[in-house]
Amino acid sequence: MYKEETGYYGEYSDILKCTEQEILNELKGILKELTEDPEHSPYEHIISRIKSPESIRDKLKRKGLADDALTGITELSDVIGIRIVTHFVGDIYLILSRLKNLKTWKIIKEKDYIARPKENGYRSYHVILMVPICLKEGQAKSEGLPDSINIEIQLRTIAMDCWASLEHQMRYKKDVKNTALIADELKRCSDEMASTDLTMQTIRDVLMNR
Ligand code: GTP
Ligand code: MG
Repeated sequence: MYKEETGYYGEYSDILKCTEQEILNELKGILKELTEDPEHSPYEHIISRIKSPESIRDKLKRKGLADDALTGITELSDVIGIRIVTHFVGDIYLILSRLKNLKTWKIIKEKDYIARPKENGYRSYHVILMVPICLKEGQAKSEGLPDSINIEIQLRTIAMDCWASLEHQMRYKKDVKNTALIADELKRCSDEMASTDLTMQTIRDVLMNR
């Protein structure tokens, strides 16, 4: 984490970092319990991030909200963002079913961009969860800070993650010719990758005798 970031979040910085860490620990525990087969982990990797000051400012401005850390933390749902990347599509739904049964975290919103991909071909399952904030022992809660905050978990397969990462890189490429053609091609790649994901799932199911 770079210096400016700590600066933007000020007194909330430690709380955010601690909350992010608690979520990661909890998630890793949950994922471990889900593993029936010790040879196969239900996920490939997890990453997390605290929204950069640049990105939080942009979003607050877009939404016509005040540009300060507390507004960001209480009004936005992705100041803490976690991404779970799985091998297979089925693993996403396995993890989701577990997330839906948690007592301490409440699901606020779900966006199923797998069943309904975005126009450009973006696929992922987004869940907004309300999670308790983390206070260190003896630490007083800052004024205005709620007991819980909303965070975003994105679930995707390696193939969906690969597509999103490449599309993200290319999105910022300026002065491209044939934008419509490129958009069509990107969409086609996404559909082909989704089709491969399903074939891979089928192969796995056959191998597992399901
Ligand atoms: P913001 O996009 O964050 O302003 O909020 P939103 O309410 O539109 O949420 P949405 O669920 O659509 O997307 C939030 C996040 O999903 C983004 O920050 C990206 O990480 C990811 N995402 C959404 N759409 C795309 C896309 O078209 N391409 C890529 N690469 N990532 C996307
Ligand atoms: Mg968006």
